Amino acid sequence: MEIMHQDNLQKVIRVERLGPQDMRQVMELEQLCFNYHWTEEQFRLGLEKGAFFVLGIRQGIDIVGYLAYTKVLDEMEILNLAVHPKHRRKGFAARLLSTLLARCREQGVRKGFLDVKASNNPAIDLYLKFGFKKRGVRRKYYPDTGEDAILLDRTIS
Ligand SMILES: CC(C)(COP(=O)(O)OP(=O)(O)OC[C@H]1O[C@@H](n2cnc3c(N)ncnc32)[C@H](O)[C@@H]1OP(=O)(O)O)[C@@H](O)C(=O)NCCC(=O)NCCS
Repeated sequence: MEIMHQDNLQKVIRVERLGPQDMRQVMELEQLCFNYHWTEEQFRLGLEKGAFFVLGIRQGIDIVGYLAYTKVLDEMEILNLAVHPKHRRKGFAARLLSTLLARCREQGVRKGFLDVKASNNPAIDLYLKFGFKKRGVRRKYYPDTGEDAILLDRTIS
């Protein structure tokens, strides 16, 4: 049996821009992945007002991964990124992030940043792998656990 190279595997995972009609599924995935989560209404309103954008990956009719981000002038902020627990370690988050960075390059976005819980090693590993660097800490930032936030950023060229 032919073993597909990781780069080719990445290319066959299709990433699409999600719309308001997808937000119920995104919210369900969000509930599964986070204790503190946005409501469907917040997702819908944010999308409709153009406050943020959401990229997603489907398997059949199910959305199994999504990434929400904002873009202001030449900066973007990653707001949320999650992959369904049954579909982790298949490269879906990596594919979402690489698609986002490619779009940013096309659109002249020069800097990306985000915050992440200090205990979230899978996510921190992922972002470091994608060239983000630790820039600071916000003490007791998260309302659900009181945990510190690690601030990460990277330039995009
Ligand atoms: C973090 C998360 C999005 C990663 O999704 P994923 O699709 O499983 O990640 P990928 O398969 O694309 O992994 C890419 C890289 O991320 C890192 N990574 C992902 N999961 C990891 C884990 N459990 N432990 C350590 N590193 C991990 C690795 O560097 C991995 O590369 P490798 O597989 O070659 O080692 C997923 O675990 C998740 O949804 N977690 C809950 C929600 C969350 O915490 N989101 C981040 C908020 S900022």
